[in-house]
Amino acid sequence: MIQTGTLKKKTAWATQEVAYEMRYLDKSDLPSIMDLQSLIVSRLTRKDLLEAFPYEFMKVHINERGFIIGIFVDKELIAFRNVYFPGIDDQEWNLGYDIGLKQANDLGNIANLQMICVHPDFRGNSLALRMNTKAIQRIKRLNRYTHLCATVSPYNYWNVRILLNCGFIIKELKYKYQDKLRYVLYQHLIKPFKGLWTQHTINKRLTDIDSQMALIKEGFIGIRLNEIPGHIPQSIADNANGFEVVYSKINWDQGGVNQDCW
Ligand SMILES: CC(C)(COP(=O)(O)OP(=O)(O)OC[C@H]1O[C@@H](n2cnc3c(N)ncnc32)[C@H](O)[C@@H]1OP(=O)(O)O)[C@@H](O)C(=O)NCCC(=O)NCCS
Repeated sequence: MIQTGTLKKKTAWATQEVAYEMRYLDKSDLPSIMDLQSLIVSRLTRKDLLEAFPYEFMKVHINERGFIIGIFVDKELIAFRNVYFPGIDDQEWNLGYDIGLKQANDLGNIANLQMICVHPDFRGNSLALRMNTKAIQRIKRLNRYTHLCATVSPYNYWNVRILLNCGFIIKELKYKYQDKLRYVLYQHLIKPFKGLWTQHTINKRLTDIDSQMALIKEGFIGIRLNEIPGHIPQSIADNANGFEVVYSKINWDQGGVNQDCW
């Protein structure tokens, strides 16, 4: 068991407090994982927010090339977080290639925070943040991985905020998984550089893709998410328009910053 506690279950009729258990998943949990993934996919506000995994790929995450943390309420899986350890030659899932890592000893030491899903009735309990925190602690304890990466759609502002709050910075913005726009996020697991940036910042809306791509080309990194006051979304899919990413540059003078991918 990783953690137990209570959380709020929200339905259209009521909010109730329920007990939960967080634990590592094993292969017997695969049917529940696939069911929850299907439900989440059927309720997405934009179809390009999530890259659904086929059964066989999901399976290798469990104790082969990664691990999955799950949360249960009344013995039912209501949330999970995948971690994946990509192979050194895996051009699709080794995100080191996307952020400019070149050395074999870097490309061979990468972990990805891969997929995260929380059942709609249980959102708003910071379950993603809680599972990410436990996942990162475990990856660090394994003592084998130097670089941590993740991808997220710029239109998924909920998850962008969560990942930035977990110590990531935005290092790249590009098309991945054939045709899906993704930020590639990065953190160094041994020499974190949180806070080591210059005072000069530039804000860009999550939806202003071209300007963000241009800034990243100039060496800017995304460090924070700000809400734009007064934005009234026309629909839930329009929520991302109400947020902007704060971009800055690494302050090389402060020292201690790992330069592997710059
Ligand atoms: C990303 C995700 C896991 C975050 O869930 P979470 O941990 O419950 O999020 P938080 O607790 O930080 O939620 C903060 C607020 O945003 C809301 N929120 C979070 N995700 C939301 C979503 N997808 N749609 C609408 N509102 C959402 C919560 O209800 C909460 O609102 P409140 O403050 O009024 O209670 C969840 O949105 C999700 O499962 N999304 C679908 C799958 C996905 O896109 N995964 C990422 C790509 S792999």
